[in-house]
Amino acid sequence: MCGIVGYIGPRDATPIILQGLKRLEYRGYDSAGVAVLQNGHIEVRRDAGKLSRLTKLVEEKPLSGHIGIGHTRWATHGEPNARNAHPHIGMTGEVVVVHNGIVENFLELREELAAEGAEFHSDTDTETIVHLVERLMGAQQGLEQAAMQTFHRLKGHQSVVLLSSREPDKIVAARLGNAGGVVIGFGEDEMFVASDLPAILEHTREVVFLENGEMAIVTREGVRLQTLDGAPIERAPQTVPWDPVAAEKGEYRHFMQKEIHEQVRSLTDTIAGRVDFEAGRVYLPQLNLTPELARRIKRIVITACGTAYHAGLVGKYLIEHIARLPVEVDVASELRYRDPIIDEDTVLLAISQSGETADTLAAMAEGRTRGATLWAVVNVIGSQAMRVADGYISMQTGPEIGVASTKAYTAPLVDLYMLAILLADLRGILDEQERRRLVAALRLVPDLAGQALEREPEVEAAARSLLETKHCLYLGRGINMPTAYEGALKLKEISYIHAEGYPAGEMKHGPIALIDRDMPVVVIATQDRWYEKMLSQIEQVKSRGGPVVAVATEGDEMIASLADHVLWVPETPWMLSPVVNVIPLQMLAYHIAALLGLDVDQPRNLAKSVTVE
Ligand code: G6P
Repeated sequence: MCGIVGYIGPRDATPIILQGLKRLEYRGYDSAGVAVLQNGHIEVRRDAGKLSRLTKLVEEKPLSGHIGIGHTRWATHGEPNARNAHPHIGMTGEVVVVHNGIVENFLELREELAAEGAEFHSDTDTETIVHLVERLMGAQQGLEQAAMQTFHRLKGHQSVVLLSSREPDKIVAARLGNAGGVVIGFGEDEMFVASDLPAILEHTREVVFLENGEMAIVTREGVRLQTLDGAPIERAPQTVPWDPVAAEKGEYRHFMQKEIHEQVRSLTDTIAGRVDFEAGRVYLPQLNLTPELARRIKRIVITACGTAYHAGLVGKYLIEHIARLPVEVDVASELRYRDPIIDEDTVLLAISQSGETADTLAAMAEGRTRGATLWAVVNVIGSQAMRVADGYISMQTGPEIGVASTKAYTAPLVDLYMLAILLADLRGILDEQERRRLVAALRLVPDLAGQALEREPEVEAAARSLLETKHCLYLGRGINMPTAYEGALKLKEISYIHAEGYPAGEMKHGPIALIDRDMPVVVIATQDRWYEKMLSQIEQVKSRGGPVVAVATEGDEMIASLADHVLWVPETPWMLSPVVNVIPLQMLAYHIAALLGLDVDQPRNLAKSVTVE
């Protein structure tokens, strides 16, 4: 995950920034850099690879000054090499930027800027920001004004931190959406800026967090907060506790809530470096998927437990639809004791956040014995599942602490979508136009997730109405049937309310007998090919007095008139809709459990990683 650290004050900025980046190292990155204002000029050092390489570079070519910004990067646009690493400096050398997230309209901006003479020195979307600021600063405007105008031009979710040698007394930072936070730390005659609290905790406990659509002008003496239109914002600093766990939670009450909100960032990182939007291609090099293997595979067997199993169920829809390969999905504890039909032409694909779940590992061993190719989608680098697999996809979510999995559910959905595209392409069944269309849709995902997250207050209101509930039914159809399963699992895991996920069409074969006013039904009824059928399910529930909570597409008046509560999501390409539609259900479960005062992050009887049978 990308990390940002900035410093302004009497001390030497370089070691403070490097140390701050080190504190964020465990989240993962592929390159790093630092920019410091030295004797009136911006000096940049950056390199691919680990921070130790950057530190060495700084030792060889020292830089020191009292104001600077640094960054660890997960490649989004362009390879993880030195020229694509942040910070990015403009043509005048007077402005420098670090950035988390994606500038969605960067291709248009780059064309526009290039037509006006801008020369680009990287393949990144970020570089457009620095050129824009430079152009807008021109001869008369200040950094603040130019930054404000620039922020209005950027589409997508991102955080941006800028400094200019023309105004050596300030750092400008902004949070535009949900691509990670921006925190400002207060010191004695010095100030700090970071994407994450742990980066600055050794220096200060007095902080303010930026909300979406806010910017900060940070000087040695303090910080001025304002909207992107320049309206001042008053916010007193808060003191964060010394407890490192509490500090890691940052602005959130629980890890689960933090992780739900981290999804814009984790989804950005998931497509980072694996998608070439211009060529319309995806790359999953660690999977070791050759064209020969892609053509030889006869079927894929997906195996997993819990939430990861639900991700596998969505994967079946995606791979069968896009790559036209038969896919079976089996819970690992069942597969390991069956006599499954697995041979050399089968790929056994295990999905596991921890990569250490005993049943999943045993199912992989079973696959190995029967000669299958083993693939794993895992979050923990170096885990057993990753080590035994012939190829893997690493989820780019960063560590997940909350026992109830959230960001490690949505990331593999996107991984499986990319896998389906790659398989179809290598098997020669995807025409170029369709491939480009499927790849282009990926670019929308982080922003759509961000829009779903912005609806949290309404989800919380729905949660309040469900606090007395003892049982709850979740219905979904098609590619969102697993969304219903996952929504129900989230609720039961952390609120201890009995919840069942059901394929909507099966309601008439049993669960309908349970429906009355004490049995709320959560339906996923977004506008897709299953919409009409979901409407009829809602009618059936309503006619039996059941309260309905509907996940629906923004602007759907029909659903608004039928349901008791609507959890709105933005319109999303249907194959990626499970990524977006699950978000309100994660928030619903979270708020119910939090309002009930339960231990959200460590629910009773559950473990994050189940390494025994
Ligand atoms: C446990 C956790 C679940 C998780 C499942 C599989 O039951 O509580 O949240 O989905 O294990 O874990 P894995 O690490 O294999 O994804």
